Amino acid sequence: MRSYKLHLAFLFFIALAFFHVSQAQNSQEDYLTTHNSARSEVGVGSMTWDDTVATYAQNYANQRAEDCNLVHSGGSYGENLAWSSGDMSATDAVNMWVAEKTYYDYNSNSCAEGQQCGHYTQVVWRNSVRLGCARVQCSSGSGTFIICNYDPPGNYVGVAEATVFDVKNYDAKADGKTEIRKAVISAWNDACASVQPSTVLISEGTYLLGPVVLKRPCKTSSIEFQVQGLVKAPPDPAAFKTDGWIVFQYINGLTVLGGGTIDGQGQKAWTINNCAANANCRMLPVIRFFCYPRAAALILIIWSNIHQLNGPTMVLSLTHSAMSLRFNFMNNTMIRDITSLNSKNFHINIFQCYDLTLKNLYIIAPGDSANTDDIHMGDSARIHVTDISIATGDDCSSIGPAGNLQPKLH
Ligand SMILES: *[C@@H]1O[C@H](CO)[C@@H](O)[C@H](O)[C@H]1NC(C)=O
Repeated sequence: MRSYKLHLAFLFFIALAFFHVSQAQNSQEDYLTTHNSARSEVGVGSMTWDDTVATYAQNYANQRAEDCNLVHSGGSYGENLAWSSGDMSATDAVNMWVAEKTYYDYNSNSCAEGQQCGHYTQVVWRNSVRLGCARVQCSSGSGTFIICNYDPPGNYVGVAEATVFDVKNYDAKADGKTEIRKAVISAWNDACASVQPSTVLISEGTYLLGPVVLKRPCKTSSIEFQVQGLVKAPPDPAAFKTDGWIVFQYINGLTVLGGGTIDGQGQKAWTINNCAANANCRMLPVIRFFCYPRAAALILIIWSNIHQLNGPTMVLSLTHSAMSLRFNFMNNTMIRDITSLNSKNFHINIFQCYDLTLKNLYIIAPGDSANTDDIHMGDSARIHVTDISIATGDDCSSIGPAGNLQPKLH
């Protein structure tokens, strides 16, 4: 009698433990965390849970509960399926898919012979950003069936998964004081030369980055510049020989994103610009005055052409107050999920760009900072602006000469 009671108590305990474990590993969070940690390992952004997708998954799981066959639903979402004859948690299923990573080679986007990698590539598929999963007990005997759906679907035939070029693999130090210019340029050149969609990654951490020009020729048709960390410019304007800090030019299909921050460290530059005393300063990213009329006039003409200056100006300089992000001669550009802090000059300058979208940006500089217009555009068309949060000391956005602009601010 006594032992029977003990036995019962023990069983109850085990059942509770099982219940607890399976509850703890089958929540939305469990699906998400397992997916997102696999994604962050390869520099791919997180997914979020989506109720519509989850309802779709649940409906299909309910239909399959009868036989638990691993047959795809044939819908418009991406889909991973898992079945176990025993009890399988959400975390188990996702880990099983992620385990295919061993067979997957990022650089050649290929899978080891005789192996499967498609579940893994769907898990880390960059454009698949919404997730919904469901889990059912199979009604014929024991067993568990798990389904995850992905929106938009991944694994398009002929579209390779992105290749990630992490600046840390090019000796960039995230100590906030070692210049990472060379690393960024090398990572860019490799990403640009890749035939697959590729990503330059500046991951979590604080970095010091001097002026860089990132440009063609690129073999890839889609290149990402992903800033997850905090990237700081040298504070001294003398470190800049041109008026751009991070300059992109002649690129088709660039996306700048990542949720990180670029800090122009403009405090020193603002004191030199001295806009309060100089009405012209807004258009003059310049601090020295030269009096050689001929040379100045010649250079001025070139300068005006490049920089879209209006009207005469007599200023020429060797030191510039740099704009934080410049985009010149670009097609199909997306700039999103980035914070731009304390630019020395304009935060973002857009020149001769077509089909450029600015989305979900935070632009911040103190009220007394000089010359920190958020976004300046010139000679561009089809520029779309949505969800920009702005707190700066100057014009909210200014539009330069001739442009067929379609700014949409909400
Ligand atoms: C951008 O598009 C224009 C017009 O189609 C084309 O002339 C130019 O070469 C393109 N530039 C790039 C960098 O793709």
